[in-house]
Amino acid sequence: MATSTTHQTASARTGRRTTARLDAFVEEVREVVGRGMAPDVTAYLVGEKLAPHLGVDGSDGLLTPEQHEGDPERYRQHLLHAETDGSFSIVGLVWLPGQCTSVHDHVSWCVTGVHQGEEHERRYRLLPADAPGGSARLVATEDVINPVGAVCGFAPPGDIHKVWNGCREKAISIHVYGADISRLGSSVRRVYELPADR
Ligand SMILES: [Fe+2]
Repeated sequence: MATSTTHQTASARTGRRTTARLDAFVEEVREVVGRGMAPDVTAYLVGEKLAPHLGVDGSDGLLTPEQHEGDPERYRQHLLHAETDGSFSIVGLVWLPGQCTSVHDHVSWCVTGVHQGEEHERRYRLLPADAPGGSARLVATEDVINPVGAVCGFAPPGDIHKVWNGCREKAISIHVYGADISRLGSSVRRVYELPADR
């Protein structure tokens, strides 16, 4: 498999070992992102590339053994790749049972895919205050349970959600963002601490 100088530099920058399958996926994402299409189209096409790699473990797997490790304190983010030009990043999120995010949205287009276990997601709509001096609030619009192989792609605005591991085992998801997570630290644009109906 072709491994460009650019990619070797990026892998060194993330400071993590990689797998042949991840290398192949990075090449696929690079090709899609390089087409310069609209964010929602890019997310859709990257999702198509991600799907066949999900759930593949062992010697041909997507992740190294270290990248399967969680953190008892909170869900853990493993930075898998950050493209040197900042155009995309790939992370693996490891969720122990019960671990969850805040309600948040994202800085860029985003693709998520479940690699192991089951990820639960609640999507929200933001309603403005209905009276002067009142508070904006969140209304839940959809609850989704994503099994291994499920892929979601979205682009802001309107991507407010929270995610948690509602199953009894470890869950792992792969996320691709149209932003440089090695620089930003996180893909979260805003955390919403507003009243929500659920
Ligand atoms: Fe998110």
